[in-house]
Amino acid sequence: MLEKARHLIAPSARSDVPPFMVMDVMAAAARIEARGGRVVHMEVGQPAAPAPLTARRAAQAALDLGDIGYTEALGMPALRAAIARQYSELNGVTVAPERIVVTTGSSAGFILAFLALFEPGDRVAVACPGYPPYRHILTALGCEPVMIEIAQATRWSITVDALLAAHRRTPLKGVLVASPANPTGTMMRPAALRELIAAAEREGIRFISDEIYHRLDYAFPAETAAKFSDNAVIINSFSKYFCMTGWRVGWMVAPEALVRPIERLQQNFAISVPTLSQVAAAAAFEGRDEMEAVKHGYEENRRILVDGLPGAGLTRFLPVDGAFYLYADVSRFTDDSFDFAQRMLEEAGVAATPGIDFDPVDGKHFVRFCYAGSAADMREAVARIGGWLQRG
Ligand SMILES: Cc1ncc(COP(=O)(O)O)c(C=O)c1O
Repeated sequence: MLEKARHLIAPSARSDVPPFMVMDVMAAAARIEARGGRVVHMEVGQPAAPAPLTARRAAQAALDLGDIGYTEALGMPALRAAIARQYSELNGVTVAPERIVVTTGSSAGFILAFLALFEPGDRVAVACPGYPPYRHILTALGCEPVMIEIAQATRWSITVDALLAAHRRTPLKGVLVASPANPTGTMMRPAALRELIAAAEREGIRFISDEIYHRLDYAFPAETAAKFSDNAVIINSFSKYFCMTGWRVGWMVAPEALVRPIERLQQNFAISVPTLSQVAAAAAFEGRDEMEAVKHGYEENRRILVDGLPGAGLTRFLPVDGAFYLYADVSRFTDDSFDFAQRMLEEAGVAATPGIDFDPVDGKHFVRFCYAGSAADMREAVARIGGWLQRG
């Protein structure tokens, strides 16, 4: 009987995706804090600031009215229109509101995009290092993620040559890029993005652009893929710039031909995105000044780390272009970034994410620091890391 039950509830092979190791770091940090210890949190990629006041007020007003029903599967028309308007105001590109799909965070956008674009068995290129759920969602959906290693020589992004080389080995159906990227914090120059999109489309490779860290650009302005192609699928979110991680609301810009298929998928999967979050998101755009102030805080944090970490002993890191990540090369100290991150947490009280979460090959030599906290935390982290590395 027990054997039969075990057989019945055996998990599917597709659910066998790897865990996110940052969760282990978070759990270890929580244990230290429970003992009364102090931890500077730089492990989780989320803003410390709350959602814009305009968004919170709009949600409160909607709650008071109490009328929180389903919305259209593609999202509230007012929110879709507000999102579309941003593209003309910020990027000078016209995007029809009909092409906007509101999603449950960008995370749901990936599932919808992959399902609408790919068949099981299709190969999709992603950067290595890269955001792990790209690979894990593709795998769970029966697609094959193809990791393209990125390096200093190509300014840490997928190049046309690398894409075409992978495509020649075994044909690709898609490629996904993020700029600014997680975990590297690096960005693609607009011309490089344009060339990559053009090359992909010439070869019939569908292009997905994860623009979740747009507006958090410090080195140079990030450009949207919408500027270069109507066929690119763009994925974005209110989680990062708008500090709304827990509200779970994002959006896609879909090519016209995909809007109806995505609508049907969303109708069946979710009916609609939580209404309260959509109301808040529509009002978030009016909180621009507040969010720009938060962004300036990240810029200051970035300056503290870029100026301070070399003196503390971490002399090598990738270009700190955007998002709120600094990806540091710790190969001088270790071949095991998980052990390094664990010791840095226990002995220096600084929590960061081991690179192996993002890169099974070279990640053992890297640690990711998130600088979305306070400036005081950044100064404390630099001092603690410096003292710890000196003690050896
Ligand atoms: C590169 C990247 N894309 C997507 C996401 C998912 O964000 P959300 O689902 O909150 O929009 C994250 C979250 O950290 C991320 O770093």
